[in-house]
Amino acid sequence: MCGIVGYIGDKNAATILVEGLRSLEYRGYDSAGIAIVDKRKRLYLLKKKGKFKALTDCLINRQVAGHLGIGHTRWATHGEPNEANAHPHYGNTRNFLVVHNGIIENHHELKLALKKDGHRFSSQTDTEVVAHLVEKFYKGDLLSAVCRTIGYLKGSFALGVICMHEPDILIAARKDSPLIVGLGKGENFIASDVPAILSRTRDIIYLDNNEIAKISKTQVKVVDLKGKEIKKKKVRITWNADSAEKAGYSHFMLKEIEEQPQVIERILRHRIKSKTVTFENINLSRAALKNITNIQIVACGTAYHAGLCGKYILEKMLQIPINVDTSSEFRYRQQIITKNKTLIILVSQSGETADTLASLRAAKEKGAKILSICNVVGSSIARESDGVIYTLAGPEISVASTKAYTAQLMTFYLLGLYLSGIKETITAKQLSRYLKEMEKIPDCMRDIIKNQKKVKKIAHEYVDRYHYRLAEQFKFLEDDIVQFKDPKKALELAEKWASLSHSAYGRRFGDFPFLYLGRNVNYPSALEGALKLKEITYISAEGYAAGEMKHGPIALIDEFPLVVCIATKSEVYEKMLSNIREIKARNGTVLSIATKGDKEIRKKEYSNYIIEIPEIDDFFSPLLVALPLQILAYQIAVGLGCDVDQPRNLAKSVTVE
Ligand code: AGP
Repeated sequence: MCGIVGYIGDKNAATILVEGLRSLEYRGYDSAGIAIVDKRKRLYLLKKKGKFKALTDCLINRQVAGHLGIGHTRWATHGEPNEANAHPHYGNTRNFLVVHNGIIENHHELKLALKKDGHRFSSQTDTEVVAHLVEKFYKGDLLSAVCRTIGYLKGSFALGVICMHEPDILIAARKDSPLIVGLGKGENFIASDVPAILSRTRDIIYLDNNEIAKISKTQVKVVDLKGKEIKKKKVRITWNADSAEKAGYSHFMLKEIEEQPQVIERILRHRIKSKTVTFENINLSRAALKNITNIQIVACGTAYHAGLCGKYILEKMLQIPINVDTSSEFRYRQQIITKNKTLIILVSQSGETADTLASLRAAKEKGAKILSICNVVGSSIARESDGVIYTLAGPEISVASTKAYTAQLMTFYLLGLYLSGIKETITAKQLSRYLKEMEKIPDCMRDIIKNQKKVKKIAHEYVDRYHYRLAEQFKFLEDDIVQFKDPKKALELAEKWASLSHSAYGRRFGDFPFLYLGRNVNYPSALEGALKLKEITYISAEGYAAGEMKHGPIALIDEFPLVVCIATKSEVYEKMLSNIREIKARNGTVLSIATKGDKEIRKKEYSNYIIEIPEIDDFFSPLLVALPLQILAYQIAVGLGCDVDQPRNLAKSVTVE
């Protein structure tokens, strides 16, 4: 899950690569590098450890001219993040340069064989073997050398390759990792994702598996592994580059949180025509859908939580059994698929998640029909599924998923309505009641966003509590130092404490874990709330079905953890209140997410803090509950000074197993 970009044309390649890589930084940010070639066949290679800024800082005041180049932003899989492991990689000489996204699974054996042939390696990466193989097979034609190299590779790759002997050619190749070719006038581009080149061109070609593109500034020729030409369709991108820009917001995450009312409005407008739900690319006949007797939902992370909520939605609407699995489990499990009876629904924002893609292929092999719910148009999962429903959320850049999640939820509600129409499990009266309720969602979301100051206040109060606790610990440290007779030991201790407090704010927050509790349709909301907090604040947080508390987690309760209880008005409301009473009886601190106007829950015996959401049929409340939970995580992260859009160790799409 790295980002790659490439350019060939008459403009300054460095400028274009930097611009492209900046918008791909969400794919990985532990090192970056570029290789630029000029007309006189001179190479400029720069690699830097750390965030992308380290690379751009180095480029300030340097004149880097060149018409051909490749660039990379890395999320480490093989070898620690350092300059040697940063891309582009080269062979024994710097004549062949490669950027790569994916994993070369057989890199170890290839490396051993190449070493025997006298190849010397300078990094710990899997990618470096690709550069050495291209170098080995090069006989005056870069395209043939890359084709031959690919024949030896096992695993996944999106590759950008250049060679000093053919400075007018850029080669791109892909298998199981995304790669597009951008078509310009007298210039062409490659990139892992559309936003990287959208300010330069709107015309693109999606490369498919085992396709290789030979790109000059005026021509793009796509061939298969045997060198046979493939005619590719040009796709025109219609959305705007600004949707992938921060537009004045301090973070993409906040921008994307606030975009949710428009996203939901867009979905409703697009999908509901004369009180009927429509999906243009579902590609499964009504008869085939009527035959379905069970559904298996497969996804990862936030998309998995949307899938869990999808189970509650579809079970209620269709009255058939629905299973949900994380992709990494589903793909290796015994998959019980009955031909023509089982429908597999895959959920993925990126449409590139490796485990979800592998699950798709495994299920397809067993004859299952696959429907995917994806955000990225033309992504691998979308293209390999029998049918696709796009979530229409627009580009989501923040690593922490927000608007894609609520768009996935809304898609499940609409799919429920669509399928229940076919299966005749819903009456016309119910349908019109549901549609009416759904139409209220955008305004309810606007209301939450308008009143988000309240959530911010609670978040910051909580951060202050942490700082207070930290100060107390420092007081204890001072006492300790005074008692130490040996000044060297005292200094050692002081340094240890100081480094702890600076480097691991989140970890020290271990004293203040969070628990998220929900029931029924809001049980997945609790899981998602906890995930959001974990990934951007590094605070340990767990989501539970509230009824499970007594079976273990209640042992965690004292005054320190914050227990976020989703207690909106619903058929399980009373049950939630009794769970809250159990927590309060153990001196717990409760933040309730409640329905506006609920006086009971405001009482001290229930809530220390309260966040209200507008009144809505509880069946649809996950769409609203998601927002304050996202804002809470965001504001705590900001309060702790965490890097909200680029949390440590993560990347936006996980294209490796
Ligand atoms: C969510 O905030 C995550 N960063 C992550 O869990 C994500 O949802 C997961 O990796 C699945 O990605 P996908 O939707 O692109 O398949």
